[in-house]
Amino acid sequence: MRPETPPRAYTTRPLRRYRTEVDKPRLLLVNGPNLNLLGTRQPEIYGSTTLAEIEQQVAETAAGYGLELRAVQSNHEGVLIDAIQAARADCAGIIINPAAYSHTSVAIPDALSAVELPVVEVHLSNIHTRESFRHHSYVSAVAEVVIAGAGPAGYQYAVRYLAEKLS
Ligand code: DQA
Repeated sequence: MRPETPPRAYTTRPLRRYRTEVDKPRLLLVNGPNLNLLGTRQPEIYGSTTLAEIEQQVAETAAGYGLELRAVQSNHEGVLIDAIQAARADCAGIIINPAAYSHTSVAIPDALSAVELPVVEVHLSNIHTRESFRHHSYVSAVAEVVIAGAGPAGYQYAVRYLAEKLS
């Protein structure tokens, strides 16, 4: 007697479960509150490069490594958390400038820990040479790498780190 063909539910095919199985690895770039004002916001501290220019440059650098980029900026903590949670499904790494939430949020580092992706934290300014309330970042505890004070180039260094790690 021929063995019964297993029911269709048992004939498994690989699920798109792991980040390495996405078509082209993708990075998530997250920018927090007030960074939409880059270019005009305190240029003596943050420079004159706009967020659109930074996102464009990061996308180009990422493309050079064969990586896609999804860029998110929000002034709302929950929106940032939703974007981080969504990255679990289809991103291979996260670059985040949490801006002022660096110094106040526990929910953002919790979300970053939950998604289990490599995280690079970027700050345009050197937060350690500024007001004391900026010296501590809750996000740093869950970041593999922290880059502060390199201006927009810091984002490029972050892409390079993740690209080399993922290659
Ligand atoms: C910042 C530093 C934070 O202290 C500040 O609240 C920002 C920007 C930076 O990129 O230097 O909004 O994250």
